[in-house]
Amino acid sequence: MTVREILKMGDPRLLRIAKPVSVFNTRELQSLIADMFDTMHAAEGAGLAAPQIGIDLALVIFGVRQNPRYPDADAVPETVLINPTLTPLDAAEEDGWEGCLSVPGLRGMVPRWARIRYTGFDQYGAPIDREVDGFHARVVQHECDHLVGTLYPMRVRDFRQFGYTSVLFPDLGADD
Ligand code: NI
Repeated sequence: MTVREILKMGDPRLLRIAKPVSVFNTRELQSLIADMFDTMHAAEGAGLAAPQIGIDLALVIFGVRQNPRYPDADAVPETVLINPTLTPLDAAEEDGWEGCLSVPGLRGMVPRWARIRYTGFDQYGAPIDREVDGFHARVVQHECDHLVGTLYPMRVRDFRQFGYTSVLFPDLGADD
């Protein structure tokens, strides 16, 4: 188990279309996922996508109990999601503040589908099929964007609502 280096925006590896995972429940996959959880927890992140540590696979993890970086966020179950597919349940969008471990120190207001269905597989190859809303839906959309080379600043519509976390949220006590 190892905390891996998180790539920062500007690294071309963050812009790739990730390859699907074809073999599940291998020692290599379990080891990668363990490293991803170590890395996410060390950075107090709500989620992490494999491309963020330079791994070109369609694999994301996420989960929030109570996260100091997102004090108002609902709890999200700790999840390993592989080869995901997302579908909006209706046309409703919601704006919300996002940050990203690959874009340290900044936050931006990002529109997302309010309600989505997501499907995929866990690390054992068991199917996942959930309908979610709120922060859970936002985290999944953010992480899955990393699998198609999209970072949240690319989705910011109003750059007056984009800036340094320490300026926007001085009470958070966080610098990223
Ligand atoms: Ni991110």
